[in-house]
Formats: sequence, C-alpha cells, structure tokens
Amino acid sequence: MRPPRANALRDAWCGELGDEQVGQQARVAGWVHRRRDHGGLIFIDLRDRSGLLQLVFHPETDPELFALAERLRPEHVISATGELLRRDEANVNPEMATGTVELSVSGCEQLAASETPPFPIDEDGPVDEVTRLKYRWLDLRRAAMAEALERRSQVTTTMRQVLEERDFIEVETPVLTRSTPEGARDFLVPSRMAPGDWYALPQSPQLFKQLLMVAGFERYFQIARCFRDEDLRADRQPEFTQLDIEMSFVEEDDVIELSEAVMGEVFRNVGFELAPPPWERIPWDEAMLRYGSDRPDRRFGMEIVDVGPRLDGSEFKVFQSVLDSGGVVRALNAGPREMSRSELESLNEVVQRHGAKAVAPIVVGDGGWTGNLARFFTDSQVASVNEALGASDGDLLCFVADSAAVAPVAIGALRIDLAERFGLLEGAGHDACWVVDFPMFEAGDGGGLTALHHPFTAPLGDLDDPAALRSRAYDLTVDGVEIGGGSIRISTPEVQERVFEIIGLDAGEARERFGFLLDALRFGAPPHGGIAFGLDRIVALACGRESIRDVIAFPKTASGSDPLTGAPGPAEPQQLRDLGIRQAPPPDPKP
Ligand code: AMO
Repeated sequence: MRPPRANALRDAWCGELGDEQVGQQARVAGWVHRRRDHGGLIFIDLRDRSGLLQLVFHPETDPELFALAERLRPEHVISATGELLRRDEANVNPEMATGTVELSVSGCEQLAASETPPFPIDEDGPVDEVTRLKYRWLDLRRAAMAEALERRSQVTTTMRQVLEERDFIEVETPVLTRSTPEGARDFLVPSRMAPGDWYALPQSPQLFKQLLMVAGFERYFQIARCFRDEDLRADRQPEFTQLDIEMSFVEEDDVIELSEAVMGEVFRNVGFELAPPPWERIPWDEAMLRYGSDRPDRRFGMEIVDVGPRLDGSEFKVFQSVLDSGGVVRALNAGPREMSRSELESLNEVVQRHGAKAVAPIVVGDGGWTGNLARFFTDSQVASVNEALGASDGDLLCFVADSAAVAPVAIGALRIDLAERFGLLEGAGHDACWVVDFPMFEAGDGGGLTALHHPFTAPLGDLDDPAALRSRAYDLTVDGVEIGGGSIRISTPEVQERVFEIIGLDAGEARERFGFLLDALRFGAPPHGGIAFGLDRIVALACGRESIRDVIAFPKTASGSDPLTGAPGPAEPQQLRDLGIRQAPPPDPKP
C-alpha cells in the first residue's frame, strides 16, 4: 500500500514497516488483534488493513501508558506512537510479515472500545454461518474474508484495465425495469405512482446492452448487479454480479478472443494457474457424452462412453428395454476401487437425484466381468465394453441406462461424485474450456420449447425445424464451474419474432413484452454479440472458496435472508396502503 497521509492518528501502515524504518518514529492506528502479558512487558499485535505490527509496552516508560495497555482488549481501537526497533534474533517471528521489528510505544490513545466478539477474529476456526453473517462487520475483519474482498477488487480492476485498453466504455443500465428473461423468476417492485403496476429487477442487462449496440456504442461493458429469484446453492445468490460485455460487427471468434484476453489476464494476475489461451472449444454434444455435463470438469479422466451399441441384444432386460425404447446406456470406468455394498447403494442416490433409477456396478476380473450381472452378456460384448472403457482386472465399471435426456446427466453427476469420493480433484491443477454448438431450444416444463440460453440468441439452421436448431452461443467453464456465457444475437426483427413464436409467445404478447426490442431491430441494428461472466464465481475460484457467499461482502443465506439487516422483513401498513397492496394472510405453516 502507498504510505498514508500523515495526521494525528497515523503516519504509517502496520504491515508496511520493516528493517528499513528501524530507528525511526512511527504512528500507527488499528485494532488490537492479540494481547500478551510477558514478564512485565505487554505485547500487542495491532491490525490495520495492511497487516499486523507488534507493539511493546514497557512498564518503566510511563506508568499511565502501561496501565492503559493493561486495559486493552481484543478489537479495541487505538493509535500508538513510538520508535521502531529491530527484534532480538530470538524474538524474530518468521510467520509475520513484520516479524523482524516491533514498535516500542511511547504514546497511545484508545479511540474506541469493543465488546468481546462472538467469535475470535485472530483465528480462522469454523464459525456458524448465520453468526458470521449477523456480525458480518466482524467476520470481514478476519484475514480470509479481507483477502477475498481485496482479491475481488483486484479482479474488477484488471477487467476494467483490459477492456479500457480495447476501447470498451462502461455504461450503467436501469435496475427498475421490466422483465428480462434469463430463465429465473423475477423480483418485482410495486409502483406507487401507477398502483397495480410493477417493475421487475433485471435478471441481466441483456436487452439494454443490445439497445446500446443499436445506438452505436460498439463496445460496452458494465460490472452489473443482476437479480434472480431462484433456489440458491453454493454458486448462486439472488443478487449477484456480472461482468457484462457486448460488441458490434462481431462473430463468435471475436467475442471468444476478447473474453480470453480479459479472463486470461484476470486469472494470471491472481496467480490462478491456467494454461494460457486459446482454450479448447468442445461441442455441446461431445461435452454431454464424455462428461455428462454442459460445464465439463476435465481435471480428471473417468470419461463416459456410450456403450449401448456394444451391448445391444444382451439378455439383460433392464438395459435391453431401455435400448428398445430409444434410450441409452452410458458407462464409466471408476478404476480399481473396492466399494462396500452400502457404498455402492449410495451411488444410486446420486443418479436418482437426476431422475435415473439406479447404477449397475460391475467389477472386472480375469478379463471378464464378475457378479450377478455378468452372465447376461456375451464374451464379445464384455470384451468390446472393456476395450471402450480401457478396463483391466479389478476395475469398477458403472452403468446407467435411461432415456437420452436423463442418462447422460445422471452419469455425469455420478462421475463428479466419484471424483470427490476418491479425492481425484486434490492437486488436480486447473482447466478452462469453452462449450459451443448448443441446441437452440430444449423441452420446457409445459411441453413446449424454451430457449436453452435466452430467446435473443441467434439460431443456426432451419427455423422451420426448431427442435433441430443449434445456437450461436458459447459458455466458458473453469474446473467444472460455468463462469460465463454469451452468444451472437438475433439482429433482425423477423428472426426475433419467429423465435418468440417458437417459444410460445404470440405476436401480441411479444409486442407487449418486447416491443421496444422489436422496434429497435427495425432501425438499423448492427450484427452484435456478447457475453457475461459471473464475477462472484470467478473470485470464489481465484480464492479457492467453496461458496460464492465467501467472496461477497454482504451475501444472503441459502434461504435468501440476510441475518445482518433482517431482510426480507415486513412492510409498514402505511407503505402497503400507499402502494395499493393488500396482504393475503400468510400461508398455513407446513405440518
Ligand atoms: P447467464 O444467465 O449465463 O447469461 O449468466 C452469466 C453468468 O452469470 C453467472 N450467474 C450467477 N452467479 C451467481 N448467482 C447466480 N444466481 C447466477 N446466475 C448466473 C454465471 C453465468 O455464467 N445475459 C446473458 C449473458 C449474455 O448472453 O451475454 C446471461 O445473463 O457465471
């Protein structure tokens, strides 16, 4: 850190003092991190944002000063002056950045007192999450959290630098707006001035950034807050941050190259070791086949193989009936693993979460298969599958047979579960890859089609055969985490109208909800495309954190609440009256 501007409270940062300043006077300010009484001396580790510095209070210097030091407790706030001394060789602390020096205090003022914190700030032991969030201002004092937020700021600074060097301009877009469909539920905000009408918070700035392209800005970015009312997980928050980008007169390669320049630099700067770009592009079909996921984790092998064609005609009714009804049989080789019966049964639960019925496990022995299932297959079927899976004696093979929609995803989840069980991810290095050539649509809940990305993504293929359409979309995955996604957009009103029609919006609805976009596309819309990156996920990866909550200053819990402020909370009756809202009685509590 640059030296602070000297004032009555401080003229130096704790963590920046060292051998070079020995013999000089320094004034530091911060929080009492630790306090130790030692044979008549009092030692205090003082903490500010830059780090720690040891202060030493001598009883003989000034009895009043010493009495103050005796009263100091963890998290009290002080300003202290003194001479910086080199520590005796025996007292050097190699664990501490400033471990060769200490401040011999000649003056000290207590600026604030602190109650005893509900959890220790000076150690990183586990603390219940609700307590951490409730006392977030204390939690953020802990080294791991402070480091995460520093890192987050470093990441956004790098993003801005790379984009500004490439002539991008940052434009803000509204937060009170209309629905911007990204596949989640909207958060709604009632309008006082138009009772009965609602704003929606943006799920992303998607439509605004497209309008900025129509407006001629050519290269836009924004570090944008997005809001999605969806079930939360470790990598999902109801409000999260995107690095949002859009460019005009571009094709897929242009957006991908730009993304690699930004993300390559971001990861390099935080010391996250990825191979330098370009990163491999994998067609969606291949990702779904080999990894059972559209965000493939390629840090370990255990690739999935479509063994259906090799097993067709077997005596095993479970597989055969699936194959006969147009389903698939997928398998992976888990390697030489011994698993108990109950462990094997727990594998069923993994695939059941994804709609499959069970895992069929088979162990390879003496070149053939052992166990009850072995007898249903011919020698040549066994040999063929063993060859496809690279199986040798002792290997555990796992099979999942189900519909073409269910089996790939279920065995993909099994692959990740096995990698975690067997510790294959520890020390596995890092991997980045693009997934491309997505289907344009997928089957929606109501039987119709919905856009796999969003309905502004440009389709590839024959618009009269929607189910077969591909899209011009691309997603970036790092270590199995989808960190970004984007596409080349539809830039003509006719295609946009047709896509709305395919997803079941009639012309009236399309005009009512997206008339402004359709109009803009009629006034000289350039070809354009872009991408958005999940900032929280990127920082979590860079800091090695499991949950994005650990890289957000004030996140929500998994149930969407904020223990710090108590949000969400009730509104005042008068507020509701102003908004013209009458509250229904709360639903009965679940039995
Ligand atoms: P998409 O919906 O794929 O694309 O979002 C882009 C990236 O945002 C991150 N992300 C999230 N992070 C935390 N919590 C969430 N609830 C959450 N949802 C998404 C992911 C994801 O890859 N408008 C398009 C982008 C475009 O087409 O340009 C969009 O929002 O890392």
